[in-house]
Amino acid sequence: MIVKEMKRMALCLFLLLFAGSVWSAAKEDRTEQRVDSVLRLMTLSEKIGQMNQVSSKEDPTGQLTECSNEEELIRSGQVGSMLNVVGVERTRHLQEIAVNDTRLHIPLIFALDVVHGYKTISPVPLAESCSWDMDLIEKSARVAAEEATASGIQWTFAPMVDIARDPRWGRVMEGSGEDPYLGSAIAKARVRGFQGTDLSAYNTMAACAKHFVGYGAAEGGRDYNTVDISKQRLRELYLPPFSAAADAGVATFMNSFNEVMGVPATGSTYLVRDILKGEWNFPGVVVSDWGSVAELIPHGVAEDKCDAAQLAVTAGCDMDMEGYCYVSSLEKLVLEGVVSESLIDDAVRRILRLKFDLGLFDDPYRYCDAEREKAEILSAEHRKVVREMACKSIVLLENREGILPLDNRCKNIGIVGPLADNPDDMLGSWCARGDGKDAIGILQGIKQAVGKGVRIRYAKGCEIEGDDRSGFSEAVQVAENSDVVIVCVGENRFMSGEAASRTRLTLPGVQRELLKAIKETGKPIVLLLSNGRPLVLDWEKENIGTIVECWQLGSEAGNAIADVLFGKYNPSGKLTMSFPYNEGQIPVYYNAKSTGRPYVPNVRYVTRYLDCPNVSLYSFGYGLSYTRFEYGELKLDKDTMFPGEKLRIDVSVANVGNYDGEETVQLYIRDVCSKITRPEKELKGFKKVFLKKGERTDISFELSLADLEYVLADGSRESDPGLFEVFVGGNPDDVKKAEFILVQGDK
Ligand code: NOJ
Repeated sequence: MIVKEMKRMALCLFLLLFAGSVWSAAKEDRTEQRVDSVLRLMTLSEKIGQMNQVSSKEDPTGQLTECSNEEELIRSGQVGSMLNVVGVERTRHLQEIAVNDTRLHIPLIFALDVVHGYKTISPVPLAESCSWDMDLIEKSARVAAEEATASGIQWTFAPMVDIARDPRWGRVMEGSGEDPYLGSAIAKARVRGFQGTDLSAYNTMAACAKHFVGYGAAEGGRDYNTVDISKQRLRELYLPPFSAAADAGVATFMNSFNEVMGVPATGSTYLVRDILKGEWNFPGVVVSDWGSVAELIPHGVAEDKCDAAQLAVTAGCDMDMEGYCYVSSLEKLVLEGVVSESLIDDAVRRILRLKFDLGLFDDPYRYCDAEREKAEILSAEHRKVVREMACKSIVLLENREGILPLDNRCKNIGIVGPLADNPDDMLGSWCARGDGKDAIGILQGIKQAVGKGVRIRYAKGCEIEGDDRSGFSEAVQVAENSDVVIVCVGENRFMSGEAASRTRLTLPGVQRELLKAIKETGKPIVLLLSNGRPLVLDWEKENIGTIVECWQLGSEAGNAIADVLFGKYNPSGKLTMSFPYNEGQIPVYYNAKSTGRPYVPNVRYVTRYLDCPNVSLYSFGYGLSYTRFEYGELKLDKDTMFPGEKLRIDVSVANVGNYDGEETVQLYIRDVCSKITRPEKELKGFKKVFLKKGERTDISFELSLADLEYVLADGSRESDPGLFEVFVGGNPDDVKKAEFILVQGDK
């Protein structure tokens, strides 16, 4: 009876899946027919107009070069998409022009950098990545999409999936840190969050994997600087999160500003035509970065706009963002026979397909609902999600004296520092239409959390930058009158993000001096850091026993920080980018390779610095909890593995401390001897578990051949038989280890 029922259910499921795939294939065919029917009607100039993306002049996110009237441009059929226009009223108005006043009535796509929220702001992406919580990261992107689409936007320039190993580069705050495995998982989660399962739904938006590719490798961490990476490194480090985003169905890609192997990415046939559109068969739209088509000229690979347009369109860039090269030159290039019209058709087909997929042809005003705009934005439900996201993004770096969580007997709390009463800077860079007025600062969050019985004293102490020490004495007085002092220091939100590279990564201005002055009072200190990149914290680590990396946590920053300080949430974040001892050590990252002269203490001719360790101050994967987790020995289900097999790794994890809490269990491997050099540790799995105090659980991982392979410069994958090491732990430096042998051939 049960067997019969199960068979019936399996049959139903099969039919459902089959019907689903037939339906979606039919839908795709229908879209292709509709695209063709529009394309057939278009003149060459109308086609090229679709390939032009124009920014609003009101709130540009780059240097404006043309000052043409946007409404006139739309009317004359020279715009396919706009960026930086927001709000139902304005987007509806411009959409009406496109739909009513142009010959073919083709709707516009409205785009914006909705990177970590639209109005309700989530933690900056680097912070979110420290949660290692894919479901929550997806939810956070969902909130952003709900709000942005309610405000007329249907295309976000996110996720930024650039792997970065250089904290001098300001844009590390936009990404997910240094690891390609974790970066790929997060790329997928964000794409799912923005796009949902149906792009045409009123509350989902097209995502954009950017910046393709290698932007994070700018020499010296200086934004827009030269990049030189080998094909090998491109394949194994920089490309994986992009291919993960493509696998997750990301609708669009953005070219990066940088060059790769001597060719600027926007004009690189190798990157866009061969890899993205060729090898990966990417069917979506590739948009240039802001002006990056025109920048082929200062790069020195194009003589003029005409040359630049030819290079970019040939390479596979479908849309020119604020470069005006396509609208000024492509028609001439096609008429002269220099550029084939089939290239234009291919680009326009992709753009029209996106417009159909977004449902814009069915209802160009689908994203213009003033009621929804009012109801959705800054809703209590959205705030709840970003507060949870903020709690989980916090990384506890030190708790040596066990000060945290703060004891509720503590009745006198001092709060000092320029980031304490500063909701604006909690938002971080790329905060779309976020407003400090809607954000909860740290002081406010703590005040709300403690209630009346606790006295809070506050002094700013100093500014984030500059050398004014005149506020120190007031701050010291606050400290002297308090049982514990919470020192809130870090960066402002303009110190990271685009065009915000820095060479000195210690606390800016006189903030470290303020910290020293507070330390001299002898009062217990809780150091709260708000920043958009890893900082140099050598002095702080040595001298302050309680350090919390709060990053820039968004609209609910103060509430989330209070949740952690008072133990309502037990911190579980783990760093996703290593913190250097000093700037001279950069780049320093966990997945380094061995060298021919590995480090051995007290030996001269080995790889080392005379004045600094080789490893980072705080590593990727590191982060404490109020509780303690204990790992059992690893159990492998076999010690030799054949290629078709899976290897199972079991480990028991116990919460042996005094608080309930979450642990991110991390799995790393090392291929001990292979044809090409491999990292000493490579992340290959992770699981986040919640354990009540005293609770123990068994965690299992599986490795298959694909996890043991590496990619070669030509994109092919290989594995080598022989010894592998496998490590599991709460961070890469504190692991249990086991070994197995990969054997070649069939069992
Ligand atoms: C330039 C940035 O590099 C890119 O990330 C962003 O999406 C565009 N400007 C549009 O604002």
